[in-house]
Amino acid sequence: MAEIRSPRAGESAGIARVESLAFNTEVPEAEVGLLGKMCAYEGDEVVATATVIDFDQWFGGSAMPCAGVASVAVLPEHRGRGVAGSLMRALLARERARGRLLSALYPANSGLYRSLGYEYCGLRPRLWAPLADLPPKPAGVEWPREMTPSDLPAVVACHAEWAAGHNGPLRPADPARWAQHVLAHRGEGVHQRTVVVPGERGVEGYASYFTTEAQGFGDYTLQCKHLVALTPAALGSLLAYFGRFTTAARQLSWFGPPSGGPAAFAMSTNGMSLGADLRRWMGRMLDVPGALAQRGYPRPPDGRPTELVLEVADPVFPENAGPWHVTVAEGRAQVVPAAQQPAGPGTGEPALPVGLLSAAFSGMATVQDLVALGALAPSGGLADALSRVFSGPLPWMPDFF
Ligand SMILES: CC(C)(COP(=O)(O)OP(=O)(O)OC[C@H]1O[C@@H](n2cnc3c(N)ncnc32)[C@H](O)[C@@H]1OP(=O)(O)O)[C@@H](O)C(=O)NCCC(=O)NCCS
Repeated sequence: MAEIRSPRAGESAGIARVESLAFNTEVPEAEVGLLGKMCAYEGDEVVATATVIDFDQWFGGSAMPCAGVASVAVLPEHRGRGVAGSLMRALLARERARGRLLSALYPANSGLYRSLGYEYCGLRPRLWAPLADLPPKPAGVEWPREMTPSDLPAVVACHAEWAAGHNGPLRPADPARWAQHVLAHRGEGVHQRTVVVPGERGVEGYASYFTTEAQGFGDYTLQCKHLVALTPAALGSLLAYFGRFTTAARQLSWFGPPSGGPAAFAMSTNGMSLGADLRRWMGRMLDVPGALAQRGYPRPPDGRPTELVLEVADPVFPENAGPWHVTVAEGRAQVVPAAQQPAGPGTGEPALPVGLLSAAFSGMATVQDLVALGALAPSGGLADALSRVFSGPLPWMPDFF
């Protein structure tokens, strides 16, 4: 059995080797940071590695600590023996102990992560539309300007205000990641730029984009990762700015909610030209009572609190099992062991798998989906209660890690 631990100084070369072989690339040793890593060893040899990136992730208007898992890699000769599973279990235990309530990742292999309690919890929709569909600049609205490093705090604040209105967006805990990853598109495109729209509230919108390789003149795409606008002026300014590329570029592409978001609503499209590509990410609640208590919840029109009793089947953390008595009122939840409360909707119902519970928590799975998958009784009080607390927009994020 391999030893599993955090790497020590001087082990970067071994980690770079494992990552390079796993992803068929050359990872320079100098670029391997040890922060957030967990590795498996046979003797002194690194045979597997995985990395955690600290994020805040928004659900129901609340930002919650999330362990983003990236670069899970096992040396080819050591695969198929449970090394990745053991490594991930150790890594998740460390992250749960650090107070990370959630975890998210882009899976290359959903079987591995499902066995660890993950489920598909959101989308990364890439949309595109012809530049001809972009609206002209509204009168009195300024053009965007190129971002400077001193704009970063205002851009981060603009992002946070925007993210609170969606389920799923992430913000890195390390501000340095903004320049290196969030607003950069490593290895992609010809020109990479970020423009901002200043306004009374600081930065009211921004777009980070790159231009793609063109097959011929007039053929390239403007690819935005973040296209964020808090005000009609910022939206109008950014869309008109991209419209100015019409003579040389073909289309605008951006990551947005499945509806296309405000950009798509503002376009004078005939409705048939909006394309979409729905990549999925996985997630799981690491700390079920903690995550339930920190999420924000929709306020039902009748204003009545919702009570439910939840039992959870978790293959990694038995401490999540419950049963938990959950009371949701005024957009917040109180979670206590059910033994301390009278019975409620859900008492005695079968335990929900933590992955599917996480998918409902994120908004990716509806309660009807859980019923159709056999995880929830159709007529039980739990189904009604979960419908009330987890109704909300489909989760998505523009970032890849
Ligand atoms: C994906 C990878 C990390 C798996 O490592 P591993 O040590 O072989 O995985 P494990 O032996 O711990 O497998 C655990 C479970 O994952 C699933 N699994 C692993 N590899 C799988 C595969 N290729 N196809 C389907 N399921 C797989 C199985 O459910 C397995 O359980 P089992 O042993 O009962 O069948 C490894 O193949 C690798 O490094 N691949 C290249 C890099 C990569 O794709 N990384 C993933 C990035 S998210």
